[in-house]
Amino acid sequence: MSGEPRELLMARYGADLMEPRVWSQVIESQLQHRSVRAYLPEALPAGTLEILVAAAQSAPSSSNLQLWDVVAVTDQARKQRLSMLADDQAHIRNAPLFLLWVVNFSRAEAVAKAAGRVVEGLEYLEMLVVGLVDVGLAAQNAMVAAESLGLGGVYIGAMRDHVDQVAAEIALPPGAFVAFGMCVGKPDPARPTAVKPRLPQSVVLHHEQFRAQTDFDAIAAYDERLTAFQKSQGMAEIGWSRMVTSRLRGAGYMKGREHLRALLAGLGFKLR
Ligand SMILES: Cc1cc2nc3c(=O)[nH]c(=O)nc-3n(C[C@H](O)[C@H](O)[C@H](O)COP(=O)(O)O)c2cc1C
Repeated sequence: MSGEPRELLMARYGADLMEPRVWSQVIESQLQHRSVRAYLPEALPAGTLEILVAAAQSAPSSSNLQLWDVVAVTDQARKQRLSMLADDQAHIRNAPLFLLWVVNFSRAEAVAKAAGRVVEGLEYLEMLVVGLVDVGLAAQNAMVAAESLGLGGVYIGAMRDHVDQVAAEIALPPGAFVAFGMCVGKPDPARPTAVKPRLPQSVVLHHEQFRAQTDFDAIAAYDERLTAFQKSQGMAEIGWSRMVTSRLRGAGYMKGREHLRALLAGLGFKLR
């Protein structure tokens, strides 16, 4: 897929068009990102999984600790069970490949213990942040790689709805949990999706110091733009502010994730 820089920026920012003065093929691909939830049923070409993982492992890693793993699921029955643990999201079972991105302390722990060393460092929240940042960078590298091959995908945060049952489903050792999933497949041309507009850069980009004031006018304009996008896609027309508000209302929207701290403790994470 190719696109003109101005058109792609227009799709992302609408009227807040900026002049694209620098450009590259990677940027062109990134600006075309959209979550894809409808796939052709066919398996991915041989070698695809391995090259996606090579892209993922090429991401930087804090101190090169590589505190992550990825579990590739193609078994239909397992995808079915995982989809049921994620609020019945059909795209999980319909994707030819479902990747589970794992924060994994167990390998580092085993290496340190084999050397007769203490592993107290793994007990700190900081180490969880390290693992989460690393696995996010790796996964997004895989997503960009998949998109560059004409594939599409969507992240599945709902893998944390029942983080203990997901861990059991894929036989994770103590000290490991699935941070999120990722469906990957060839986009179904009969059900295309479009580039979703984002907040204007005037809201998210700061120079030198942070402007703490919320620009409600810019957000109102974005609400309008996102609502128009949602309408064009046949989605619920709720804009952005209402979606944020609904998401923040508390345990009512957490779908099990309100128990994450306790469940992670059960999986061996101390988080002090
Ligand atoms: C960490 C993460 C978790 C997500 N979880 C889900 C999910 O469980 N189900 C889903 O359909 N989309 C999920 N998404 C996709 C987002 O809804 C989507 O990225 C966002 O609405 C922006 O749309 P776009 O990706 O098409 O630009 C997730 C995205 C991220 C980054």
